[in-house]
Amino acid sequence: MIFRFSDFHFPDAAARLYPHTPGRPWVLEVGFGDGRFWPHHAATFPEAPNYLGVEISGTSLLKAGRRLRAAGLDNAVLTKLPAAPLIREVVPQGALDAVVVNFPDPWPKAGHTGHRLLRAPFFQLAASRLKPGGAVLLTTDHEEYFEFACAEAAASGVMAVEFTEPPPAALETKYALKWRDLGLGARHARFTPLAHPAVPHGALTRYPDSEEDPAVPHAILTLPETFAPQSFAKHTARGGQTPEDPAGWTAVLLDLYRTLGKTGWTALAHVVEGELTQEVLIGITAREDGTHLVRLARFGGPVITPGVKAAVGVLTDWLETQGAQVRHRGY
Ligand SMILES: C[S@@+](CC[C@H](N)C(=O)[O-])C[C@H]1O[C@@H](n2cnc3c(N)ncnc32)[C@H](O)[C@@H]1O
Repeated sequence: MIFRFSDFHFPDAAARLYPHTPGRPWVLEVGFGDGRFWPHHAATFPEAPNYLGVEISGTSLLKAGRRLRAAGLDNAVLTKLPAAPLIREVVPQGALDAVVVNFPDPWPKAGHTGHRLLRAPFFQLAASRLKPGGAVLLTTDHEEYFEFACAEAAASGVMAVEFTEPPPAALETKYALKWRDLGLGARHARFTPLAHPAVPHGALTRYPDSEEDPAVPHAILTLPETFAPQSFAKHTARGGQTPEDPAGWTAVLLDLYRTLGKTGWTALAHVVEGELTQEVLIGITAREDGTHLVRLARFGGPVITPGVKAAVGVLTDWLETQGAQVRHRGY
């Protein structure tokens, strides 16, 4: 089954994601590509473990979805997201039996190692989400990345490493076959947690069932009678930096549109929080008492994050600079 980020709970639970098989082992695969690993690997178990696959490529998501459906793997959830926010926000602490990474992008150029997935913070996050006895399983053809990942695991202080043979299914993936055709071998490492550090979940919530719910970020204000913007300049704000989250959030108000169906306007905002990005719409609609409601729209399935709340605040603040009088801030 394919899930959008907004279909998850934060954190979620195996019992909700896999209601028919909640007690089975739970495996996460990062960067599943066209999805060949899981049907091969699941077939080596008497009962297919529960599977969560995360991938940033939409084309791969669709290919893998078709492959898993054809294999009858109905206790499999696939999603299109960067791995870190999915693991941090969706997977509960101590829940996974394995995190599988087959042939991760090597980012071989000098100065690009910061883009690599298997760095110390990833190992700390994985250690926090693995059960005792669980492991990160890395298979790669790229010797230099392999050594890099082992050094990062050691630097994380939370992982021991063993060098073993890869699971046979890891040698059946698209990239495994590609490298095998070129006569290249693969290295395999099994990283097991020495400790399970607490890596906290962020403050994320699902969009409530009702738009009227006060948990939907909103503000109430009175616009000046003359308010009729004829142009809009892109507006960027940053905040939320903490020692644990030095990047914080960036909210960019990209544009403002006049709505024709309802009396008011809609703002388009781009919100970046680490690797997580969301495009959200924020409505400005007239209320019967003459005030206006600024409110995050349900459209597009937004997840309510500190950055999304901040975007509603940034729009409210901008309206204030245009002469609005803010009556209430609910974000
Ligand atoms: C070299 S391919 C390997 C694909 C597959 N595992 C295989 O062996 O055929 C690496 C995959 O990782 C995905 N990827 C890269 N960074 C990612 C991230 N941060 N989170 C999830 N997937 C990612 C890419 O889109 C790509 O499909």
